Amino acid sequence: MRWILFFGALIGTSLCGREKFWGDQVFRINVRNGDEISKLSQLVNSDNFKLHVWQSPSTFGRPVDVLVPSVSLQLVKSFLASQGLEYSVTIEDLQALLDNEDEEMQHNEGQERSGNNFNYGAYHSLEAIYREMDSIAADFPALASRVKIGHSFENRPLYVLKFSTGEGRRPAIWLNAGIHSREWISQATAIWTARKIVSDYQKDPAITSILERMDIFLLPVANPDGYVYTQTKNRFWRKTRSLNPGSPCVGTDANRNWNASFAGKGASDNPCSEVYHGPHPNSEVEVKSVVDFIQKHGNFKCFIDLHSYSQLLLYPYGYTVKNAPDADELDVVARHAAKALASLSGTEYQVGPTATTIYPASGSSPDWAYDNGIKYAFTFELRDTGHYGFLLPASQIIPTAEETWLGLRSIMEHVRDHLY
Ligand SMILES: *[C@@H]1O[C@H](CO)[C@@H](O)[C@H](O)[C@H]1NC(C)=O
Ligand SMILES: [Zn+2]
Repeated sequence: MRWILFFGALIGTSLCGREKFWGDQVFRINVRNGDEISKLSQLVNSDNFKLHVWQSPSTFGRPVDVLVPSVSLQLVKSFLASQGLEYSVTIEDLQALLDNEDEEMQHNEGQERSGNNFNYGAYHSLEAIYREMDSIAADFPALASRVKIGHSFENRPLYVLKFSTGEGRRPAIWLNAGIHSREWISQATAIWTARKIVSDYQKDPAITSILERMDIFLLPVANPDGYVYTQTKNRFWRKTRSLNPGSPCVGTDANRNWNASFAGKGASDNPCSEVYHGPHPNSEVEVKSVVDFIQKHGNFKCFIDLHSYSQLLLYPYGYTVKNAPDADELDVVARHAAKALASLSGTEYQVGPTATTIYPASGSSPDWAYDNGIKYAFTFELRDTGHYGFLLPASQIIPTAEETWLGLRSIMEHVRDHLY
């Protein structure tokens, strides 16, 4: 229980101890051709501008989002003007959004402390999410249980909710969220999804029949150290918190650390990079714990990873532009899911293989799953398309989770009907 005390001590300092972004802005830079991509790569890779990349340059004409610190606003604007690059300011006052988010969270924490139920329309501390997982298991003991599958680098437990109505190692679905800690809508959507599964079992025929044949395992916070760090030190932390010997920079991109074309395209060998792949495959204990669990189980049929933002539904491969052998089927499944998702409130998702839809990314979890016999492997990039980016307001949690559920359920129904 030591980690709880540790965490409790940190949360009290969250308001004052976290990095401030006064005067910082987020720019969206348009990209029209290869020449502009190389100019942009120059911009984002240069230390002079001190940019933080929210959306990396992509070969497919997608805009690039960068956090521009106040000290380099003028420099960056001059560079963009001199290179003829078009841009707009998507977030004028970053700190105002952060203050707002923080205030809402503190307010909600106060209400929950004084006896209110877990508010699914709010962002939560790790501790609160873990407590709610416990409550779900306690409320539905015949259906849900909380399983510890390992621990993080800083020794926080990695908890999974297992939903099962049968015995033995039934065909199973893995739902993953929060591997990139700053993508808060993913952890929030995951915990909402857990409650949805137990609430709808024996009410919704679709989820009922899925659970009659398969188990679902849901890991809502795949990178707990990073998540705590986003609430105590830096809201925009993406990587794990493992130390890199010989480097002052901390952390590995846990979604470049899987054993799928490890250290290939779209990953960096620089520990200071946001896409640092780590020293070797599975070097991150958070990744290794999931890999070991899935391999030991041996009967997973589906692996879905929730991220944000961009509104994309992606399938393998990320590490190569070559088509996956099952690309045609995966494309149909993804299109169907995107249509179901859009049916709720019109949210549009783009669908395709990762490498040819956004950019190449080696060492990612769905590629690993796919190459290890888990055919139905998908990545969701949840809301929005960049208006708020990683700072999606809490008022959008439930609408996002509800529409995402329709997409997830559509995929799980397909898996149920195509067990192999
Ligand atoms: C990675 O996968 C290859 C096979 O593709 C295997 O030979 C190797 O042992 C794996 N490495 C780890 C760390 O699991
Ligand atoms: Zn992500």
